[in-house]
Amino acid sequence: MIEAIRWSREAVLVLDQLQLPRKVEWVRCVRSDEVADCIAAMKIRGAPAIGVAAAMGLALGAREPAAREAVSLADFFAVISARMAATRPTAVNLTWAIGRMQQAFAAALPRGLEAVRAALEEEALEIARQDRETCAAMGRHGATLIPRDARVLTHCNTGSLATAGSGTALAVIREAHARGRVKLVYVDETRPYLQGARLTAWELAQDGIPQRLIADSMAAFLMARGEVDFVVLGADRIAANGDVANKIGTYGLSVQARHHGVPFYVAAPLSTVDVRKATGAGIPIEERPARELTELAGIAIAPEGVGVWNPSFDVTPHQHITGIITEVGVLRPPYWQSIPEAVLKSGETSGFSTA
Ligand code: MRU
Repeated sequence: MIEAIRWSREAVLVLDQLQLPRKVEWVRCVRSDEVADCIAAMKIRGAPAIGVAAAMGLALGAREPAAREAVSLADFFAVISARMAATRPTAVNLTWAIGRMQQAFAAALPRGLEAVRAALEEEALEIARQDRETCAAMGRHGATLIPRDARVLTHCNTGSLATAGSGTALAVIREAHARGRVKLVYVDETRPYLQGARLTAWELAQDGIPQRLIADSMAAFLMARGEVDFVVLGADRIAANGDVANKIGTYGLSVQARHHGVPFYVAAPLSTVDVRKATGAGIPIEERPARELTELAGIAIAPEGVGVWNPSFDVTPHQHITGIITEVGVLRPPYWQSIPEAVLKSGETSGFSTA
């Protein structure tokens, strides 16, 4: 399976997703702030993967000489945690993972630096291990929803590059394909960052899953021709009422799917749920640099100085979502009931994030 991130005690290795699919190149981070820079620059991206990277980055931080030299280890950890939390605002898995690392830190602190180092390493690896299991469970729950010989449409990248395992939506597609249910996957190129064209198409090609790449603007016409049976994509944050923040373009797809009567599913772990946000209106939406729109592979494609709006995510209203595939099963409307119920039952505390 493709790996997006690796841990060793001396370093965190990040597969540089900015180079894909041209080159497979690893970045070696030896300091916590280098991992934070990788997240901010999107060398590693995708909600669960960002959480895993942040956790490993904090475990690495505790191993830096600066942690030993710090007057207060607690202050040092608070500073590197804040730096990590400031990297990207929308995916709640980031603050969820940092929250778990903070709890592990606090429990180990009275036993000194070596205990803190061991506890943080253990917790980061446990977050990654749980994510792998979660991906597999989402795959199993979601695969049963996909009709035979389905033509499935997906958006952005939700696979091994976006998680520590087989993915969220892509885990569902992978498992359904293994069960012989997927005829074809339509991959939205996902302007402007092209996670679909660069990353999802690469992952599907490695798995030998039949695919066809489309520009985002082609999805509606494809649905109108009756050529899409099922839409499944991921989430960066899910509010308590089931509104979903995900990659820009998701909302538009949901409108098109609703219009054409195509089932529209979101696959996400419970760590992506933020029950502190009553609705999607409270979810912070990241805005990214203008050059992601005005340039393509470093070449200008728009007049210099043109005004740009570049939100990286949008919010899909819960009414447009047929079901939310999680590790504990498929949640159905009314989400204001099924989401908090699932969160409470699982003991998942992501809803208590501070972002
Ligand atoms: O900006 P990105 O590439 O980090 O955005 C990723 C997405 O929007 C994914 O769809 C989402 O994180 C779910 S992936 C498991």
